[in-house]
Amino acid sequence: MSEPTKFLLPEDAIPTHWVNLAPDLPGEPLPPLSPRTGEPAGPDDLTPIFPMGLIAQEVSQEPEIAIPDLVREAYKLWRPTPLYRARRLEQALGTKARIFYKYEGGSPAGSHKPNTAVPQAYENAQAGIAKLATETGAGQWGSSLAFACSLFGLECEVFMVGSSYDQKPYRRSMMETWGASVHRSPSERTQAGRSQAAHPTGSLGIAISEAVEVAAGDPACNYALGSVLNHVLLHQTVIGQEAIAQLELAGAGMPDVIVGCVGGGSNFGGLVFPFLRAGADCRIVAAEPAACPTLTRGVYSYDYGDTVGMTPLMPMYTLGHDFVPPPVHAGGLRYHGDAPMVCALVKAGRVEARSYRQNETFEAAVKFARSEGIIPAPEPAHAIRAVIEEASDGEAKTILFGLCGHGHFDLAAYDAYLAGSLEDPEFSESDLEAALAGLPDAPVIA
Ligand SMILES: Cc1ncc(COP(=O)(O)O)c(C=O)c1O
Repeated sequence: MSEPTKFLLPEDAIPTHWVNLAPDLPGEPLPPLSPRTGEPAGPDDLTPIFPMGLIAQEVSQEPEIAIPDLVREAYKLWRPTPLYRARRLEQALGTKARIFYKYEGGSPAGSHKPNTAVPQAYENAQAGIAKLATETGAGQWGSSLAFACSLFGLECEVFMVGSSYDQKPYRRSMMETWGASVHRSPSERTQAGRSQAAHPTGSLGIAISEAVEVAAGDPACNYALGSVLNHVLLHQTVIGQEAIAQLELAGAGMPDVIVGCVGGGSNFGGLVFPFLRAGADCRIVAAEPAACPTLTRGVYSYDYGDTVGMTPLMPMYTLGHDFVPPPVHAGGLRYHGDAPMVCALVKAGRVEARSYRQNETFEAAVKFARSEGIIPAPEPAHAIRAVIEEASDGEAKTILFGLCGHGHFDLAAYDAYLAGSLEDPEFSESDLEAALAGLPDAPVIA
């Protein structure tokens, strides 16, 4: 009984600032480009869909940004989140490694996404906006924004990727319970949706186009994105700041390896950036699906954030904005690009990326559930897979990973895995060639 399993912080240890890694990034800063002119994007490209408060955070070079009091107050509903020592997983693996995980699944929506949904809803409410439109892949982000809008009295309209809408009907119920309206994407509601009717399983890129179109056409409505953008990663840095304090509590100091899953990069950036700011001399591993291998097989290039080409062009690893990934269950990882900030770290060699297939990630998730109890979301199951690999090399190292959400709405995927019917879709060279052929004309990045 003498060995603690959970490391908990009091509410007054919720960070007072977010960590902005922008001034620390390697290489020359690469600005986003306007989709209209191809020149660096200015306020005109952003003000139709984002409030000034978030635009200021998006372009800030300040090393820290204060968290507004009302946001810290709302964070108290689930923060600080626990850090666990995975003693039972360590035992099951017979490893010499110490494994810690930061668990974000205890938030109202069940993942890290409310960490940014709340400040985004807050800034829009401050700016007098009445409604937010968004996309959701796994359903985690849409639920989080629906919850955050309910806190600040905003309407919320969500375009949910078709395959997730079919796989997870109760995510829709959750969003509606918080007062949001939800469409299966591609939908008939927008021009963008109608143009993509040939892709009935949908994709994050298509759903983003639909939500941006709704926001751009209604002055009372803004758009909110659950990942990729600088301000989203900024908001998630509460995760890593708390983890540093908790590892200290555990007497573990800095980890030797940090592992996270990457869909658009927000839980990963949120965990890792405060450690980079603190000068941690550790290896950093990003885990992604083999069916949508953006960091491991994409090209580093300017590309649109959405399928139809309405968002600014961003410098990132991309599989091409019109790539529609196969409907794997890790819906939150089915995105053709990744956060420019995370991509810059991969490009500079500071972060190493690995990809895993569905069955091997679910095998890792089940091993985790049978030792630690928590049933992980399919997205962080990729991180667990990488952690098990890391822990199997016989070294006595300290590993930290992000368990960014639970899998309580993903049980159809677990059913398929347990029944042996889960597929391992391949990403082929011809997929890559076809998708890259559609890259926009933009400056080549060295
Ligand atoms: C539980 C969970 N993890 C990870 C992700 C991927 O997003 P990101 O890479 O921005 O953390 C999602 C996205 O929906 C998610 O729901």
